[in-house]
Amino acid sequence: MSLSYKLEVIWCRSFQAVLKVGNYFLGYRMPKYLEGPGKIKELGEFLKAKNLNDVLLVTETGMLRWSMVQSMLDGFDAAGIRYAVQTFDHPDPTSDDVELGYKTYKEKGCKTIVALGGGSRMDCAKGIAAKAVHPKKTISQLQGILKVHWPIPTFVAIPTTAGTGSETTVAAVITDSATHRKAAINDPFLIPKYAVLDPELTVGLPPHITATTGMDALAHAVEAYTNHTYNTKLENKLAKEAVKLVYDNILTVFEDGSNLEARQKMQRAAFYAGRAFTRGCVGYVHAVGHTLGGLYHVPHGLAMAVLLPHVMREFGASAHKRLAELADVCGIGGENQAEKANNFIRWIEQTNARMGLPEKFDMIKDEDIEQMITWARKEANPLYPVPVVWSREDFRRLIQSIRK
Ligand SMILES: NC(=O)c1ccc[n+]([C@@H]2O[C@H](COP(=O)([O-])OP(=O)(O)OC[C@H]3O[C@@H](n4cnc5c(N)ncnc54)[C@H](O)[C@@H]3O)[C@@H](O)[C@H]2O)c1
Ligand SMILES: [Fe+2]
Repeated sequence: MSLSYKLEVIWCRSFQAVLKVGNYFLGYRMPKYLEGPGKIKELGEFLKAKNLNDVLLVTETGMLRWSMVQSMLDGFDAAGIRYAVQTFDHPDPTSDDVELGYKTYKEKGCKTIVALGGGSRMDCAKGIAAKAVHPKKTISQLQGILKVHWPIPTFVAIPTTAGTGSETTVAAVITDSATHRKAAINDPFLIPKYAVLDPELTVGLPPHITATTGMDALAHAVEAYTNHTYNTKLENKLAKEAVKLVYDNILTVFEDGSNLEARQKMQRAAFYAGRAFTRGCVGYVHAVGHTLGGLYHVPHGLAMAVLLPHVMREFGASAHKRLAELADVCGIGGENQAEKANNFIRWIEQTNARMGLPEKFDMIKDEDIEQMITWARKEANPLYPVPVVWSREDFRRLIQSIRK
C-alpha cells in the first residue's frame, strides 16, 4: 500500500466522519407527493390551491402529445395557471441545455418549475432552478456539494421512468458541454417540493428502458445500504424496502408493462431508493457509470445494471454483511454471510440476463481509462462512504472486468 493511497484513505474517512455529524444539520426533507393513476390531471387545481403560477414546464416534445399530458395542460388552463414550455429531446442534459432553459425561464417571467420526464428532464429542470438563484454561476461552478446557497423556485417533479428517483433526490446530474464530464450538483435545496407519482405515465416505457431504469433504482438502494456511514434508520429502511419492491416487481413490469400495480410499486421503489441515497450517497457504481455516460453516452441505467454486480463483487468481504442483509430481505438463502451476499449478487446477474442486458461493454478505449479513473475518484472521494476506498489500481481492475 503506497503512502499516498494510505493518506487518501485517511482523508476520505476523516471527511466522512465529519460529514456524518454535519448531515444532522442539513435539511433532508422528502417532497410531498400525489400518488396514484391519473394524478397528473389534478396538478392544475393543486397548483392553484397552493397559489403557484407562471410555470416553466420542462419536458420532451413527444410527451406533449400524450393524452394524459394534454389533460394536465387542460387542467392548467381551467385553473388559470399560465405556463411556458421548454422541450429537450436527447437523453442526459448538458450545461448548454440548462442555459437555454434558464433563458426561457427568465424571458417568460416564470416563478414555478414543473419537470415531466425521466431523470434527464428532471435534472435539466433542477439545473435551471439552480441557475435561477445563481444566474452568474456556470454549471461547472455549481457541481459538487452544497454550492446552491438559496431556496430554488417551487419545483414539481413528475417522473415518467421508475429509476433515477430525481423526484426526491438532492442531485442534478449534468454533462459539461465543453469537457463531456458528467457530474452532479448535490444540494438539499434541489430536493423537489412536490412530486407526482402517476404510474400511468410509465405504462408506455419500452421493456429495455423499463429494465435499465429499474436497475438504476436498485443500484441506488444497494449503494446507499452498503455505504451505511451517513444513514439513519430511515435510509436503511427505505433502501431495504426499495430492494424488496424491485425484487418482487422488476420482471413483472419487464414482461407486462401494462401491470399498473407493479408499475406503481416500481415507482415507489425508485422514490424510496432516491431518498435513501440522498443522505446515504451512491458509490463507485455511479462514479464509474457517469464516466461511461459522459464519454460514450451509455444510458445511465444500463451502466448501472452492468456495473452493480462487478462493483459489489470487487468490494469483497467488506460488503458481505450488508449484502447478506439485503438477501434476507428478499428471502435469498445461503449458509453464511458470504454465501448470501454472493447469491444476492448472482440474483442481480440473473435478472440482468433475463432482461437481455449485457455483462460487459465493448466500447471502452485503452486511452480513456486513466481519465475515467480520475473522474470517478474526483466524484467519489472523499464524499461517498463506500465499503472500501479504492486505489487507482483497484479502479483499473474494475474497469478491465467490465470490458469485453
Ligand atoms: N438526479 C438524480 O438523483 C439522478 C439519479 C440517477 C440518475 N440520474 C440521471 O438521470 C438520467 C437518466 O434518466 P432516466 O434513466 O430516467 O432516463 P431518461 O430521462 O434519459 O430517458 C430515457 C429514455 O426514455 C424515454 N422515456 C422516458 N419516459 C418514457 C415513457 N414513459 N414512455 C416512453 N419513453 C420514455 C426518454 O425519451 C428517453 O429516450 C441520466 O442523465 C442520469 O445520470 C439522476
Ligand atoms: Fe443512478
